[in-house]
Amino acid sequence: MDLEKLLSDRLAPAFATVAGGPVDPVVRRSPRADFQSDAALALARRLGRPPRDIAAEVLERAALDDVCASAEVSGPGFLNLVVADRALAALVSGLAGDDRLGVPLTAAPQTVVVDYSAPNVAKEMHVGHLRSTVIGDAAVRLLDWLGHRVVRANHLGDWGTPFGMLIEHLTDLGEAEAAHELSMGDLDAFYKAARAKFDADEAFRERSRLRVVALQGGDERTRRLWRLLVEQSERHFLTAYDLLDVTLTEDDFRGESAYNDLLGGVVEDLDRLGLLVRSGGADCVFPPGFTGRDGEPLPLIVRKSDGGYGYPATDLAALRQRTGELGATRLLYVVGQPQRQHFAMVFAVAGAAGWLRPPARAEHLGFGSILGADGRMLRSRTGESVKLVGLLEEAVSRATDLARSKNPALDDEATAEIGRAVGIGAIKYADLSTDRTKDYVLDWERMLSLDGDTAPYLQYAYSRIRSVFRRAGTDARPDAPVVLAERAERVLAMELLGFAGVVGRVERSLEFHHLAGHLHRLATAFSAFYERCPVLRAPDELRESRLLLADLTARTLRQGLHLLGIRTVERM
Ligand code: ARG
Repeated sequence: MDLEKLLSDRLAPAFATVAGGPVDPVVRRSPRADFQSDAALALARRLGRPPRDIAAEVLERAALDDVCASAEVSGPGFLNLVVADRALAALVSGLAGDDRLGVPLTAAPQTVVVDYSAPNVAKEMHVGHLRSTVIGDAAVRLLDWLGHRVVRANHLGDWGTPFGMLIEHLTDLGEAEAAHELSMGDLDAFYKAARAKFDADEAFRERSRLRVVALQGGDERTRRLWRLLVEQSERHFLTAYDLLDVTLTEDDFRGESAYNDLLGGVVEDLDRLGLLVRSGGADCVFPPGFTGRDGEPLPLIVRKSDGGYGYPATDLAALRQRTGELGATRLLYVVGQPQRQHFAMVFAVAGAAGWLRPPARAEHLGFGSILGADGRMLRSRTGESVKLVGLLEEAVSRATDLARSKNPALDDEATAEIGRAVGIGAIKYADLSTDRTKDYVLDWERMLSLDGDTAPYLQYAYSRIRSVFRRAGTDARPDAPVVLAERAERVLAMELLGFAGVVGRVERSLEFHHLAGHLHRLATAFSAFYERCPVLRAPDELRESRLLLADLTARTLRQGLHLLGIRTVERM
């Protein structure tokens, strides 16, 4: 059980009696005690009573003697709570016997659609897709572990006007040659060659235009050529997913093309609902509250003046299918910050059309950019956007070199395993440990450092605990009595008990830096504990208790890292 929740549950009825109605006791960690509650301050004006009086009466009624060593009114009316060691020890024992480390399965399972990764066909994945993939996959792992039904939607960009020129370029090359070029994984070169012809050659442009019409009209040969492009690109994406160790598979591709047959119905229904406005030859919806720079209302264009449907129409169709057919009540869109307004408008239109209504809700999980050491958007030496696979390979190779230099005695296979776990872990952790909405700098030195707020630091802490058990030659006994004699043991116990609360908060906010931060505090608390408290040399009872604390730390680190998509290794 989460300590904050336990104290909050105990205080709530007392507050309710004093206030004559429900009150959130707002229990949080405190620098002065273990926890504090500030709720009396907020109540004072409403009740017309001094806050210290309210706090004192609440304490009296709550009778916290069994869980708190001390509970005091302080300052203008805070409640300072110090948890009793006995109670802490009992709670830690409870964790030891719990596979889920105190984290309950959700009482209200939801169907959640996570729209993430979503690269574009015939273009290589770049670092922008890295963030979406890493954050989205963490969301999938966490929500799934809590017992929600999670649908991964990889909203591949596999449709639209560029496919005219791509298919024409493909026919120019000949199918066999094109397939060969694409299978080499150099998607960008293919795209650029098509683009260059398109820009230079009027006849090619005309062919491309006709080709789009054929594609949309379902022409069989055109469809087959299009499939070839899509399949080769999907293979490239799957290679990246494999390297990145994410849970996405080929079953999760739900490209834009999949919604093609639904687009007509979407526009018809918007029309029937009276939401459609013809503007400049296009069919638009003007959701209230969205205005451009000069204050004029902004349209969401659902059908372009040439009669084609675009990106917004597809998102409306997908959303409607997710809440309708799939019965989802939580829709997550892990897409960069620049598309913020697009999603706000899509959600507003879907709301107006009745396709998105409570309890269903949609959230855009926006994120910032990855920057290079110069503080500008990450670019390769030649000034192009950095290719994802190259970046991941570099991470693994740097981490493998580090592993080899730290531990030359390990065989190649073990070194490679560590290199992969640490390299990929470092990339993911650097991403997930910063506030999602902010930009961050990709700094190899920092993210591969063994002492800092990094994946290698946490992975090392884990492997160090595992080595204690190898030396001990035994496992921890989950029913060993827990003794909290030293301050460092107490601090560690508090962090272990904080895991459930953090996971619960991240379930709502999907701000993974809170989970990362917690794991880092836990590993730091373990380090301090391990420095001050001998484990294997301690007398019997203490030794058992400390092994149990160590084991719980390892299990929590492993589970927490797993939720972030980061592997642990038994030795490093
Ligand atoms: N393919 C788009 C891109 O690369 C991202 C799609 C995001 N998902 C969505 N439902 N619109 O920018």
